[in-house]
Amino acid sequence: VLLDGRAAARDVRAACSLRVEALAGRGVRPGLAVVLVGDDPASRVYVGNKTRACAEVGLHSEVHGFPADVSPAAVLGRIAELNANPEIHGVIVQLPLPPQFDLRAVVETVDPRKDVDGFHRCNVGAMVLGDTVFPPCTPAGVMLLLERAAIPLEGRDAVVVGASNIVGKPMAMMLLQREATVTLCHIRTRDLARHTRLADILVVAAGCPGLIGADMVKDGATVIDVGINRLPDGRLVGDVDFDAVRGRAGRITPVPGGVGPMTVAMLIQNTVLAAERSLSAGGAAAPAAVSA
Ligand SMILES: NC(=O)c1ccc[n+]([C@@H]2O[C@H](COP(=O)([O-])OP(=O)(O)OC[C@H]3O[C@@H](n4cnc5c(N)ncnc54)[C@H](O)[C@@H]3O)[C@@H](O)[C@H]2O)c1
Repeated sequence: VLLDGRAAARDVRAACSLRVEALAGRGVRPGLAVVLVGDDPASRVYVGNKTRACAEVGLHSEVHGFPADVSPAAVLGRIAELNANPEIHGVIVQLPLPPQFDLRAVVETVDPRKDVDGFHRCNVGAMVLGDTVFPPCTPAGVMLLLERAAIPLEGRDAVVVGASNIVGKPMAMMLLQREATVTLCHIRTRDLARHTRLADILVVAAGCPGLIGADMVKDGATVIDVGINRLPDGRLVGDVDFDAVRGRAGRITPVPGGVGPMTVAMLIQNTVLAAERSLSAGGAAAPAAVSA
C-alpha cells in the first residue's frame, strides 16, 4: 500500500488555510522569509516549492537571494533584520551553504521563535526533552504520514538509516518519544542489512540511490524513503529500490510524492504556528520562553 504524501500534504495545507483565515480576522498574515545563497538548481526547486505552497495557503513569503561569493556577515546582517521584522514570523536558510559559511553560526543567528525549520540549538534541545517548539519539518512529516496510516509505534522496532542533524537524528528522537525501540544507522554501521531486517518501521535518509533492496526489508514492514537523488538520466529516485521492495513492504512511500510534499506542508504549518504564537506573546518582538 502506498503512503500518499501529496494527499496528506493537501490536508495539512487545507487545515492551515483555516488557521490563516482566523489570523486574518485578528489582523495578522503569517510571513515566511527564505534566505537563498548561490544558485544550486535543487535549492531553487525547493525554494520554489516552498513559496508556491505559501501562496496557496495565503501566507506572505519573500526570498532573500545572495550570490555564492557573498560575505557571511552580509547574510547574518539580513537574518538579524528579518528577526526584527514583525511581518516575518518564520526565517529559514536554504541548505547547502557555500564553504565560506559556518553553518552553526548561521543557524544560531535565527531567532528561535522564528526558527520554523527547528534547527536552532534551543529548539533541538527542547525537542530532545520532549518539549518540542518547532518540530523539524522532514521528520515531522514522516510522523504525520505514520499517524495517518495508523501505524503502531509503541514497542515496535524502528530503524533509521542516516544520522544527519536535519533528518536522521531528530527522526530517531521523535520515534523514541512515541516509545518505539530505535536503532540509528549511518555510514559506519557494520552490516546494515542485519539492522534493517529487524525493522517494523524503516526510515531511510542516506542520499544513496538503491541502498535498500528487498532482502534488507522484513515482510510487511512500513518503509519510509526520505532520500531524493537525481540520476544521470534525470530521474528522481529515493534510497529504496522501490520496485523490488514494494512487494515486500506492508506500506511504502514513493519518491517523488512521499515525504517531499510533507516537508513543505510542515514548514507552512510551523510558520502559521509562529504567527499564532506572536499574537499570544503580544507581538513578535516580545520575549517568549523558548521552551514554553
Ligand atoms: N524528502 C525531503 O523532504 C528531504 C529533506 C531533507 C533531505 N532529503 C534527502 O534525504 C537524504 C539525506 O539527507 P541529509 O541531509 O540527512 O543527508 P546527509 O548527507 O547530511 O546525511 C546522510 C546520512 O546518511 C548516512 N549514510 C550515507 N551513506 C550511507 C550508507 N551507504 N549506509 C548507511 N548510512 C549512510 C551518513 O552517515 C549520514 O548520517 C538526501 O537524499 C536528501 O536529498 C529529503
